[in-house]
Amino acid sequence: MIRSVVRGVGGRLPTRVVDNDELALRLDTSDPWIRERTGIRQRHIAAEGELTSDLGAAAARLALERADLPPSRVDLVVVATSTPDNTFPATATAIQRKLALPPGPALDVQAVCAGFAYALTVADNFLRLGQATHALVIGAETFSRILDWTDRGTCVLFGDGAGAVLLRAERQAGTSADRGILATRLAADGRHYEQLYVDGGPSQGGPVGHLRMNGREVFRHAVHDLADVAAAVVADAGLSLAELDLLVPHQANLRIIEAVGRRLDLPPEKVVVTVDRHANTSAASIPLALDHAVAEGRLRPGHLVCATAMGGGFAWGAVLLRW
Ligand code: ACO
Repeated sequence: MIRSVVRGVGGRLPTRVVDNDELALRLDTSDPWIRERTGIRQRHIAAEGELTSDLGAAAARLALERADLPPSRVDLVVVATSTPDNTFPATATAIQRKLALPPGPALDVQAVCAGFAYALTVADNFLRLGQATHALVIGAETFSRILDWTDRGTCVLFGDGAGAVLLRAERQAGTSADRGILATRLAADGRHYEQLYVDGGPSQGGPVGHLRMNGREVFRHAVHDLADVAAAVVADAGLSLAELDLLVPHQANLRIIEAVGRRLDLPPEKVVVTVDRHANTSAASIPLALDHAVAEGRLRPGHLVCATAMGGGFAWGAVLLRW
């Protein structure tokens, strides 16, 4: 059967780093408060004029180099983002242009912090159906543009960045020992629409708006959703959680990540944490964490890895793959 195998991964963070102390100069907050409640020490913030597509294109370029694949071979681009360059066209087409990719399907997927799980699933379905062979799957965000920088309850939590993987369709035996994506699970529940949203948008006729959140409610659901969907996707593949080499949870809050690890009975060394350095980069958080795990030598070919994500909607999802 055809599997979608990761052949390259890349990440890009803006140059400017803003630590908690710098935020405390202009907000009624402090480094100890932020670190204690979230684990976040710093975040990267895009420069003026630096667009989501710039970050996404840079991450994708790196993924292509590492896959040793010329841009001319890419025949699908899926971008997960909630901070597109423009309302339309898709940021995927901006990246297509910036990387001089050939014409082919290019689309954005909008599932906020669960976006990368959704984008991987969409690309995997194209590849397994034989509709594409080399897919660039990108999570790219400039959340700094939609934050209310006077709201200390939200603006300290997010950062900008992008990550990308190059998936290649490869014929495999059809067992759980195969390389590539073994199982995916997606879900959403619109009853929670107002727990985490942006208070503006094209059909409302006003400006783009700012992120609004009921932090406690998000926290409560995040722990359950992230853990339960990870357990479900592992079971879908006929495997057990004990067989996981690495869990890559969405990077929103260290306390959420630790609670998910405990709920799944995974030791801390099997759970990737980058939220301390990047804060929450929404759809970019999982590919950035994958890139980080590879760079650290914690993620190697043959490893069984589960990526699990949750965000506004609420929307959530998980992808199980053998690296
Ligand atoms: N600095 C100092 N004080 C603050 C700050 C801040 N940055 N933010 C809030 N406070 C204050 C509040 O005003 C409140 O003060 P009060 O008691 O005088 O009213 C007090 O701290 C407690 O506020 P709570 O909101 O109850 O604090 P809580 O312990 O719930 O922590 C937090 C807030 C960190 C946002 C937590 O709820 C959380 O992490 N939720 C998850 C949200 C999240 O990660 N969202 C990301 C998007 S969704 C996703 O990615 C999964």
